[in-house]
Amino acid sequence: MQFDLTRQAAHEQSAGCVAVGVFASQALSPSAKLIDKASGGAISAAVKAGDMTGALGDTLLLRGLRGVKAERVLLVGCGKAGDIDAAAYQRIVGAAATAVGRLHGTVAGLYLTELTVAGHDEPLRVRTAVTAADHALYRFTDYKEKPSKRHLKSVLIAGGARQTKKLQAALAQGVALAQGVALARDLGNQPANVCTPTYLAEQAQALAKAHKLELEVLEEAQMRELGMGALLAVARGSRQPPKLIVLKYRGGKPKAAPVVLVGKGVTFDSGGISIKPSAAMDEMKFDMCGAASVLGTVKAAALAQLPVNLIGVVPAAENLPDGNAVKPGDIVKTMAGKTVEILNTDAEGRLLLCDALTYCARFKPDAVIDIATLTGACVVALGAHAHGLLGNDQKLMDALLTAGGTVHDRAWQLPLWREYREQLKSPFADLPNVAGREAGTITAAAFLSAFTDGLRWAHLDIAGTAWKSGKDKSATGRPVGLLAQYLIDRAGG
Ligand code: BES
Ligand code: ZN
Ligand code: MN
Repeated sequence: MQFDLTRQAAHEQSAGCVAVGVFASQALSPSAKLIDKASGGAISAAVKAGDMTGALGDTLLLRGLRGVKAERVLLVGCGKAGDIDAAAYQRIVGAAATAVGRLHGTVAGLYLTELTVAGHDEPLRVRTAVTAADHALYRFTDYKEKPSKRHLKSVLIAGGARQTKKLQAALAQGVALAQGVALARDLGNQPANVCTPTYLAEQAQALAKAHKLELEVLEEAQMRELGMGALLAVARGSRQPPKLIVLKYRGGKPKAAPVVLVGKGVTFDSGGISIKPSAAMDEMKFDMCGAASVLGTVKAAALAQLPVNLIGVVPAAENLPDGNAVKPGDIVKTMAGKTVEILNTDAEGRLLLCDALTYCARFKPDAVIDIATLTGACVVALGAHAHGLLGNDQKLMDALLTAGGTVHDRAWQLPLWREYREQLKSPFADLPNVAGREAGTITAAAFLSAFTDGLRWAHLDIAGTAWKSGKDKSATGRPVGLLAQYLIDRAGG
């Protein structure tokens, strides 16, 4: 989708459709008022008749209003005027974009940036209008013979006459972030017979080429040399060779310590020998959404030219049962030198991540954030609304919590007390890879924390947030929004 700013007044906008806000109080947004006036009260009449209540996210299409250049006017319910926060604003823009995306016109104008949104100045409202609209208009049609045709080609975002430069920058940043999110969603939605570790490496290669990034892909032999016995154990049952992808974007000062993002890239998680039940097992193609969010965030940072040094690290493997697969009770040696007794081959994410985290030390990072669809327990604890957040550095976690709040891609912190780590006891090895049913999200993070000595580290468990199930099954692109905002905040806004 093409996004541009427009300074044209709503009633003079010649786009196929203009979208304007109506509040639950029946009051009209400034642009709605303009159109109402120009059309001799067409909007107030619709509101008075009860066709548009102004409830958050409701829409009503009016056509052929006299005195209005656009062929169609979309009324969008904005709820209570004083209650618009990041979430409500994204819903309003999303509802408008969804509705105009179904219409016949090729151009639509969204006059929603004029709303008062808690904590959002005008540039942030413009940026968010782009990301929210693009999110709503996203479709994944790679495997449809005849995807339904979409006429909409371009979206105009109303941006006031003042601060044009700032708004242009905000729009461009919105486009960059939206493309990062879309990449994460595309990768997540690809089926596992296409999206293999090799495919992820190829995608990283394409990114490196397009954005002049440094790329290194470690192969099995190199991982063996480094002693990554845990990572390699996961890949043993698969015909697909594992990859360790390292992608570097240098936007910061040459000597500034980098932020390292580590994404779990299990391209299919059958559970291995500890095989999963078959119900909804297809969704385990999404078990690489952490990796997808890392590639998406690197893309967004590069496109937006954020002033930060960023390294994306993706340990990628497929977890399948096979005659050569790792078995419950097997003991492997990690790159850190600690041995792990693999009691459950379905707790594979932490095995990939522990070696990847150890590998990160060489970058002398300022902060390491891993992102992983790590535990079903996190889905139980937090559902689809918040990522689980744990770590060893409160300042880093606070920064992530704040960033998530700003863009409504929220995380919620769980405790990582010593007592949880003490649950991880093996009679034979230094650590077991599982610690019983209780507090599964925390004991998984506790396992990882054994490999983060000397790192400022945070862990995002995105098991509940990375994709939607059911009829709208799709990768969400989360937490690219949170991560990109964290990088923007670090750079000073
Ligand atoms: N990828 C899964 C976690 C998962 C499950 C994410 C369901 C989203 C939905 C992970 O590899 C896994 O299987 N975890 C196990 C850990 C257990 C064996 C300790 C789990 O959560 O059941
Ligand atoms: Zn998994
Ligand atoms: Mn698993």
